[in-house]
Amino acid sequence: MNPARLIVCVNQRLGFGQKSCAGSGSRELIDIIKNHFKNTGIDVPVVEQVCLGRCAEGIAMRIAPGGQFFTRVTEADVGMIGEAVRQFSLNV
Ligand code: FES
Repeated sequence: MNPARLIVCVNQRLGFGQKSCAGSGSRELIDIIKNHFKNTGIDVPVVEQVCLGRCAEGIAMRIAPGGQFFTRVTEADVGMIGEAVRQFSLNV
């Protein structure tokens, strides 16, 4: 089985003024990413993780194992990330 996956932070930090990925909409973005993967035939799981250590730069995600890191991700980046995931999964 192909080990490639996309790990997305779903951490919610509740302190005043503390930026977090869930607070920036990462759960909603996961739905958009999963739909994009399904519609474009990218057979790679999207895995939720609590914090990737880049909270101030969220929404944060990375390709695993050992792949590219993405920060400040918005819906506009989903196509680009999908292609990166596809390429990674073909070469892992
Ligand atoms: S809250 Fe997402 S990286 Fe920490």
